[in-house]
Amino acid sequence: MRLNSDEALLHVRPLYDMKYKNSLEFAKQLDTKDPLATYRDEFIFPEVHGKEVIYFTGNSLGLQPKRTKAYVDEVMQDWASLAVEGHFYAKKPWWDYHERLAAPLSKVVGAMPDEITVMNTLTVNLHLLMVSFYRPTEKRFRILCEEKAFPSDQYALSSQLRFHGLDPKEALVEVKRRPGEHFWRTEDIVQKIQELGSELALVMMGGVNYYNGQVFDLRVITEAARSVGAIAGWDLAHAIGNVELRLHDWDVDFAAWCSYKYMNSGPGNASGVFIHQRHLGKKDIPRFEGWWGTKKENRFLMKPEFEPMDNADAWQLSNASILSLAPYLASLTLFDDVGMEALITKSGSLTSYLEFILQEIDKQVDSSFEIITPKDRGCQLSVFLHGEGRTLFEYLMSEGVFIDWREPNVIRLAPAPFYCSFEDMYRFGQILGEGIQRT
Ligand SMILES: Cc1ncc(COP(=O)(O)O)c(C=O)c1O
Repeated sequence: MRLNSDEALLHVRPLYDMKYKNSLEFAKQLDTKDPLATYRDEFIFPEVHGKEVIYFTGNSLGLQPKRTKAYVDEVMQDWASLAVEGHFYAKKPWWDYHERLAAPLSKVVGAMPDEITVMNTLTVNLHLLMVSFYRPTEKRFRILCEEKAFPSDQYALSSQLRFHGLDPKEALVEVKRRPGEHFWRTEDIVQKIQELGSELALVMMGGVNYYNGQVFDLRVITEAARSVGAIAGWDLAHAIGNVELRLHDWDVDFAAWCSYKYMNSGPGNASGVFIHQRHLGKKDIPRFEGWWGTKKENRFLMKPEFEPMDNADAWQLSNASILSLAPYLASLTLFDDVGMEALITKSGSLTSYLEFILQEIDKQVDSSFEIITPKDRGCQLSVFLHGEGRTLFEYLMSEGVFIDWREPNVIRLAPAPFYCSFEDMYRFGQILGEGIQRT
C-alpha cells in the first residue's frame, strides 16, 4: 500500500493506545470501550440480505435518527389541529421555529448563536452570501478557490463572476496540487493569496475537500486572505459535524453548509449559514432582502421599510420550511447530547482502524490500494483502487457495504462516528478481501 507522503499535521487522536488487530474479537473489544457505542441505536440502518448495512456514505446522506419522526409528526399534528394558528400556537411556533437551531448549531461550528441562521439550501446560500461579500471593483476582483472544487461551487463562482461582467478564465484563480500529489499544500494556498494581494476580493473554498477528504487549514487560510484585504468564505458541506470548527475565533467572514451529510437532517434539507459578528447589524451592507429578515417585532406590521434583524437572520428571505427544520432540530439534539469533541475523538480512532484494516487486506491480495486522503483529515478515506474497477464496487454494494465511487477509480469511505462501529470496519475488511478474490 502506498500512503501519501504528506507531512501535514496529524489531527487524528487515537482513542485507545494499543496495537490494532485485524480480528472480530479485537474490533468488538474496541466497541465495548467506545463511550458513543450506544448512539448507533439512535439511527435507522437500511438492510441488505437481512443484515444492517455497513454505512460509509454519511458524507453524502446521513442516516435517519429514530427521534426525527416524532419531530416531524409534531408539526404534522399541529398543522392538522391548528392549521394557520400553528404559526403562533404550535408546540414550537412556526414563525420563529428557525431560531431554535442557532444555539445548538453554533456549538457545532464554533460560533456565537447570533452569527448563525438556517435557511434555503447550500448553493442558494453561497450565492446570497456572495451578493453581500463578493463586491468586485476594477482593481480588486479576483476569486481564489481550490482546483477541482465541488462542481456546484465552481458553477456558483463562475456565474457570480459573469453576473458582474467578469470573465471566469481571468478572474477565477485555482490553487493547484503539486505534480504527483493528491492534496493541496497550505503554503501554496497562502503564497497564491499573497501573490494576488490587492487584486484578491474573495477566497471561497471547501473546508473539507469532497474528493480526497482533506481538511484545509481554515485558520491560516482565512488569516492570509484577510491580511491582504480579501474576504474569506467557506463551503463547509463536508466539514460540519465532521471536524473541529472555530469559525468565530478564526475570523472567518462567512460560511455555509448543507445538513444532510454528517448532520443527518434528511435528503436535500436546509442549509446553515455563518456570518461573522463584525458584519452583523449593518444597514448599509448589500443584501437581497425578504420579510423574514426584517425585525421580528415589526414583521407583521407589513411596513414598507426593511429593518434588518441584528443577527444573521437579517439574511433570511422567506418564511421557513418547517417540515425541513423539524428533522434538523431533531438531529441537533443528538449533537447537543454528545458534543463535537467526543465525536471527533471517536472519529480519529475509527478512521485509523479503517486505515489499518485496509493495510492488512492490502498485504493479503494482489491489488493495491492507495489512500489519497492526507493525514489532515476528518472521517473520510478516499482510496484509489489500483488493479480493481467498478465490479469490486458493485460487489461491495451487493454485500451491503454502502460506499461511493468517483472517477477514475476511487472509492470514498466515510465512517461517521455517530453510528459506525469498529466491528463494521473489521467486517468491511473481510468483505473487501473476498470481493478482490472473486472479481
Ligand atoms: C462540497 C459541496 N458543495 C456544494 C454542494 C451542493 O449542495 P446543494 O445541492 O445542497 O446546494 C455539495 C453537495 O453535495 C457539496 O458536497
